[in-house]
Amino acid sequence: MTTTPEIRTVRAPSVLRGRDTHLDAVEAGLIAARSAQGQVLLIEGGSGTGKTRLLREANDRARRAGAHTQTGQAFDGQQVLPFAPLLTAVLNGEPPIAGPDELGTLGTHTDLPHRVVRDLRTALESAAARTPVVVLLDDLQWADNGTIMAVRALTADLRHTGVLWMLATRGDTTPAVRELWNHLAGEGACRLGLPPLTLEMTAQLVADAAGAPAHPGLLALADQARGNPFLILELVRGLSEEDRLRIQDGLATAIGSRLPDRLTGNINQRLGRLSAPARRMVRMAAVLPQRFTAAQLAAVLRCRPSELVEPLEESVEADLVRGDGERLQFQHELLRQAVRESLPASLRCALEREVSDVLVDSGSPPAETTRLMRPEQTGDPSDIADAAADVEQISCLLHGRSEPEGCPPDGRAAFGWSSLTDTEHRVIRLIASGITNRQAARQLSLSPHTVNTHLRHVFAKLDINSRVQLANLAHDFPD
Ligand SMILES: Nc1ncnc2c1ncn2[C@@H]1O[C@H](COP(=O)(O)OP(=O)(O)OP(=O)(O)O)[C@@H](O)[C@H]1O
Ligand SMILES: [Mg+2]
Repeated sequence: MTTTPEIRTVRAPSVLRGRDTHLDAVEAGLIAARSAQGQVLLIEGGSGTGKTRLLREANDRARRAGAHTQTGQAFDGQQVLPFAPLLTAVLNGEPPIAGPDELGTLGTHTDLPHRVVRDLRTALESAAARTPVVVLLDDLQWADNGTIMAVRALTADLRHTGVLWMLATRGDTTPAVRELWNHLAGEGACRLGLPPLTLEMTAQLVADAAGAPAHPGLLALADQARGNPFLILELVRGLSEEDRLRIQDGLATAIGSRLPDRLTGNINQRLGRLSAPARRMVRMAAVLPQRFTAAQLAAVLRCRPSELVEPLEESVEADLVRGDGERLQFQHELLRQAVRESLPASLRCALEREVSDVLVDSGSPPAETTRLMRPEQTGDPSDIADAAADVEQISCLLHGRSEPEGCPPDGRAAFGWSSLTDTEHRVIRLIASGITNRQAARQLSLSPHTVNTHLRHVFAKLDINSRVQLANLAHDFPD
């Protein structure tokens, strides 16, 4: 009997499909950890194959089994921040296994790598003596060299303790991570690839997302995602978005045989469905560091954070952007890349330069940060500004402060007098005294171009457009 077709909304599947051997390895690792045998699981796969999802599942299982889990992630653009994934893991673990007392002297020593490894080893060892500990580190293709070195040392040192390591990287990883993988595999680590889901598993995943078993026609479409879970889910979401997913006779059915736009990589069509402000916001977000704050986004868009509420809501609803604690990020790295690539290269470069100016302006690395960063680790200024926010957070934890000292890069207002940086204040004083930009540049040992950029930012932040207005404001706000 044919029933009236029902339109389906798509659900985020709660079941992990086709990764039974991986989960068996996790269970075995947990059992070994209980008898003080540390193990290392190396997870490797392309984008969207389910590394993060597997780590999340392992994290849940480990916690249910009574283990303490410490999760960290490396981020694109944060390689300037040494040990960030590891430090975040131990400081923010559930429960944290180290805090200011154990790591409090970190920022004040020159032999930093040695001390980090020593302090982490002590913290992990003593935590694992009581309860098995699972350390899960994601996206190591973006890890800094300090993290890679520390992982190598710690996995060796803690072999006879109850620490289970789960390390994940993209397949097209860096030579340093490749070398780490080979070394750890040689030492007995278990390598777990993430092969494409079989047709049967694909059918299960489609059914999970659509809420009903897949019709053969839908399954044939889903098979074009070649077993990549992200793409399979994108296909189902795309069909639903285009109003082409129905439940007919109890089966999830695709209307038509065309792949949804969402899957054909045509990000421009997807952006085209957004309002102009949301589209502009998403494009700008794609040239920001991988994780960004609403304040940073507002600063580069030269608007008030409150003006972002609707564009943000729209882009969250369009599954493009999501909240990640205090920060925002694209729903998936593949989307961020697609949006970046949709921008003409010359425009992207210009936007990146602009973003980097704004980010550096909105918070230069504090003194503690510079001490944490090794001298050879220099990078793009926007990366440093972004990394600075994280280091500052770590520094605060290390020193028992709840708020960063001085001007917090993230907490700074995007507009008004209080949003101005020290350099901008110095520029204002000189310009308000009546001298030219070139003369101000000489006095501040900056290039005229930099002074111009500072002035542009000042005008935008103070919502003014003349030097006379600036002089008046400087008079109203003496130092
Ligand atoms: N085996 C699976 N069963 C069900 N859903 C899965 C599975 N693997 C991945 N997913 C889902 O597919 C999407 C992509 O997975 P995930 O983000 O974990 O990929 P990834 O390998 O971490 O990608 P990237 O390298 O880009 O970070 C997520 O929505 C995730 O929940
Ligand atoms: Mg991932």
